[in-house]
Formats: sequence, structure tokens, C-alpha cells
Amino acid sequence: MDFDDVILGRRSIRGYKPDPVPRALIEEILTLAMRAPSSMNTQPWNFYVITGEPLDRIRKGNTERNLAGVPHSREFRTGEAFAGVHRERQIGVAKQLFGAMGIAREDTAARQDWVLRGFRQFDAPVCIIVTYDKVLAGSDDTPFDCGAVTNCLVNAAWSRGLGCVINSQGIMQSPVVREHAQIPDDQVIMKSIALGWPDDSFPANAVVSERKSVAEAAVFRGFGD
Ligand SMILES: Cc1cc2nc3c(=O)[nH]c(=O)nc-3n(C[C@H](O)[C@H](O)[C@H](O)COP(=O)(O)O)c2cc1C
Repeated sequence: MDFDDVILGRRSIRGYKPDPVPRALIEEILTLAMRAPSSMNTQPWNFYVITGEPLDRIRKGNTERNLAGVPHSREFRTGEAFAGVHRERQIGVAKQLFGAMGIAREDTAARQDWVLRGFRQFDAPVCIIVTYDKVLAGSDDTPFDCGAVTNCLVNAAWSRGLGCVINSQGIMQSPVVREHAQIPDDQVIMKSIALGWPDDSFPANAVVSERKSVAEAAVFRGFGD
């Protein structure tokens, strides 16, 4: 696959085949991903690659606690609720996904099912928890670097025929993740990536989300036009 095919073809995958993903392939993807740049080459990231029983325990604990109304304990700041254009974009992609899945606005049971799916890491055969070294927690460069490596990771996976969805839903209950992934206290849980072979019959996997244009996003100065 050439670069443009990977970048233009990749999309978030929220339905997976149950087939396992070979460890050697994940190692190859991580090797590619870690060519990502980082501030002063600090490479603050760590990866916990989870499958099988520990992943099932994370799904179960995350779902049970969320259903029981335990407040989320994600280890990153989420800021204020989205408003204005950001809220519009959030609603825009939700509409695309629900439209593809045939989930009506008033169908609260189907919407709840969709949320639970996220708590279960979309039933992916593998999840990768991205953490960073707590000693670097004071610098905004640290989550920036984790984003850089994560973007490389999802594109590297796509180039090998694998799908991913970066997600915060699967790590709503960080004590559960910490316990079953055995993450030491000197690391901060940053994000989760569900990974596996895309199920092409799952309608939401076909959704191509929208992007603002270069004209909206970029300002050019000194180009003389
Ligand atoms: C930091 C981050 C957190 C995300 N969390 C979730 C999530 O919890 N659940 C989900 O379904 N998608 C999640 N996504 C996926 C985004 O919705 C998706 O990347 C965005 O809508 C663009 O779509 P695309 O990845 O298909 O291009 C997350 C993506 C990022 C980068």
C-alpha cells in the first residue's frame, strides 16, 4: 500500500472478526509506529498489548462499573463539554455512524448497546493501552508525543490490513485497566486502541468521517497571493 492509500483509506473500525492477531505482526506495527517523532526524542510512550482473558476482564469490569454509575476515572483532562463547531462535528460523525447502523434517534436501547460496545473495546481481539512515564506528566509535549505515536500505529496497522479505533470509552474505569493490564503506578494511562481484522459486513466500518478543508484549517503568510 502506498502512503496516500493508507492515509486516505484508514478509518476507525468498530466491528472486528474474532480471528487472533499474531504477536509478531503487532511487534512489526509497534516498530513502525515508534519511528514517530517525540519531544527531544524522549519517547515517553509504553504499550500494554492485551488479548484473551485479561482483555475480557477489562471489558467486564469497565462495563459493570459504568452500568453501576461509577464515575469515570480516566487519567487525562477532558476539558469542558464540546460546544459550537466542535459539538457540531461530534454530532456529525455520530449521525453518520448511527445512520450506517440503522439506529434511530429515539431508539434508546440500540443507542445504549452502541455505548456498551465501546466499553467492551468494540469486541476487538486485541487492545493496546498507551501509557506514559508519570515523571513527564507536567509537560503538554507528553500527550502530544503519545498522539504522534498512536497515529503512526493506526496507520501502520492499516497498511497491514488491520483496523483500529483509538478510544477513551474502553478506559473509562482506569483501576480496572490498571489491575488487569498490570500497569505500574509510575505510568499514566493515556489512551486505548482496539485492534483486529476489520469485519467488512459491519456497516459502521464503511463510514468515512468528514474533515474541514485546508482553507478552513490553514493560514498562509508571505506566499505573495
Ligand atoms: C483521542 C481520541 C479518542 C477517541 N475516542 C473514541 C471513543 O471513545 N469511541 C469511539 O467510538 N471513537 C473514538 N475515537 C475515534 C474518533 O471518533 C474518530 O477518529 C473520528 O471520528 C474520525 O474518524 P476516523 O477515525 O474514521 O477518520 C477517538 C479518537 C481519538 C483520536
